[in-house]
Amino acid sequence: MCGIVGYIGSKQAYPILMKGLYRLEYRGYDSAGIALLDGDLKLYKTKGKVTDLEGFVSGKSIEGTIGIGHTRWATHGEPNNVNAHPHFSQSQNLAIIHNGIIENYASIKEELIKRGYKFSSDTDTEVLIHLIEDIKNNENVSLDEAVRIALNQVVGAYAIVIISKDEPNLLIAARKGSPLVVGIGDDDYYLASDAAPIAEYTQDVVYLNDEEIVSVRRGEEIKIRTVKNKNKTPYIQKLELNLTELEKGGFDHFMLKEINEQPSSILDSMRGRLNAKKGIVKLGGIIDYEQKMANAKRITIIACGTSWHAALVGEYLFEDLARTHVEVEYASEFRYRNPIINEDDIVIAISQSGETADTLAAIELAKSKGATIIGICNVVGSSIPRATHAGTYTHAGPEIGVASTKAFTAQVTILTLMALRIAKMKGTIETSRYFQLLNALESIPNKVKETLDVDDQIRTLARTFTYARNFLYLGRGYNFPVALEGALKLKEISYIHAEGYPAAEMKHGPIALIDSEMPVVVIATNKGTYEKVISNIQEVKARKGKIIAIVTKGDKDVKKLADYIIEVPETEEMLVPLLATIPLQLLSYHIAVMRDCNVDQPRNLAKSVTVE
Ligand code: AGP
Ligand code: GLU
Repeated sequence: MCGIVGYIGSKQAYPILMKGLYRLEYRGYDSAGIALLDGDLKLYKTKGKVTDLEGFVSGKSIEGTIGIGHTRWATHGEPNNVNAHPHFSQSQNLAIIHNGIIENYASIKEELIKRGYKFSSDTDTEVLIHLIEDIKNNENVSLDEAVRIALNQVVGAYAIVIISKDEPNLLIAARKGSPLVVGIGDDDYYLASDAAPIAEYTQDVVYLNDEEIVSVRRGEEIKIRTVKNKNKTPYIQKLELNLTELEKGGFDHFMLKEINEQPSSILDSMRGRLNAKKGIVKLGGIIDYEQKMANAKRITIIACGTSWHAALVGEYLFEDLARTHVEVEYASEFRYRNPIINEDDIVIAISQSGETADTLAAIELAKSKGATIIGICNVVGSSIPRATHAGTYTHAGPEIGVASTKAFTAQVTILTLMALRIAKMKGTIETSRYFQLLNALESIPNKVKETLDVDDQIRTLARTFTYARNFLYLGRGYNFPVALEGALKLKEISYIHAEGYPAAEMKHGPIALIDSEMPVVVIATNKGTYEKVISNIQEVKARKGKIIAIVTKGDKDVKKLADYIIEVPETEEMLVPLLATIPLQLLSYHIAVMRDCNVDQPRNLAKSVTVE
């Protein structure tokens, strides 16, 4: 959720921490802070964004070759200066940054208050640093041992980094349920909640596993042990992260850049996996499990938000092509039900970040019931791919804008490849049809490029609807998830209320909302239930609603009815989501910009939702 960064070495820490925080700001952003150690342990923190922190620090002493930094996404206590991280221990000798939630903080706090501890913030985090100091003093143990003992008492999720005034050559970090990466430089170390702040300094990284504590000492190798006190050998991996992928590259916002990257991100997701001429679909990561997938009587797909919408497209694809029964579940519901899952089940978990707490917990539940878990994730080395039996990375590249765009189309691309592969294995698809679909899929990146040409048209259209208070999005079949995704995008970044509905369901309720003020976006491409959707458009028109229709190039019938027409290239019905989603992403983007909203960092949202 929040961003964590740490540095220890020979360089000045402040610029590295600041740059790291800017790179991580997309994760969470209601307040920010740093701690620097240079004889004294100094804390600077403030409500607001990283630029506010920079302003706040300006003119103050920023010396120190060791330090930690944090951007907060408040869970306990409102976002204000006091609740911002880092937090001091009672003696002010220790400071902590934390991502996650300490669920049993209240009982620990009560105990500590009885023993005379004073709390200055409302956070769960401050409880942890007081507890660590209490253990260190009372049990007379080293700092890393005190951290270990404390973490044994804690219930919840955490990625933490601790800095100590008494030990100027040491940073201690630990994780459970929230990600943490250690970067290994020449004579220095970096810590961060993902590789983005580390990439420009070193390619050598160690991803911590759950319940691992790392002691990072200047001039020594890092030491990892578990909270149960087992030593672990650090596994050093090479980062594959291109720095230019982390910059805006001339676009006004990351979201716009990412929308425009879709021709290449879809291509990258298919690269080396699809050879249409030879009829080959090869997903290396799942080869050992594809027979099991083909044999499965049922596939359950778990995900949240936009990834859940991709899962819905996946359901239609697997049913159509591979004739497999598919259930799509919100991970957050699945994990608290008593789902009927057994050893024969295949569970596909979809997640851009690979860190979504609900999805991770749902995976663990399905695993405990013996299911085989296949991941579809974007962030390499994140927690979900490591918790699954096998999986496929989407290769969409880093997605920084909080509103997911290119990750969605990459997820749908992978699901299409998977469904085609399993269909081929099961023999549920005729060879000529198989080749037809592979060819159509191969031509999608170019058609996405063509679709992006509607940008100007949509910018003009957006002006008309900038002040609309509600939007309805309608679609049927493969376009129903597209309608849901279009509505979510608009809600997230423009704060306009929007609902996505299967077009035919409109008459069962939402039709009551329609009047001359109501814009209705209808995805009315020319296959499947086209005729039926036209009837639905008539129903809206009869009530004076304003129709914005996404149609196939050259469409004549919808054109006669709709107030605004946006064309996408012709393709196979099951591939339409990869094209029709794009104008909807652009529509929400332009409306949000015109409303002066913060497109890349919408209020109350965070890029990876590592709390439940
Ligand atoms: C997408 O625009 C959202 N910000 C959100 O719904 C997101 O898709 C959801 O939180 C799931 O995230 P994940 O794909 O990283 O698991
Ligand atoms: N629970 C902590 C707080 O509210 C950390 C939140 C975060 O992950 O940013 O301060």
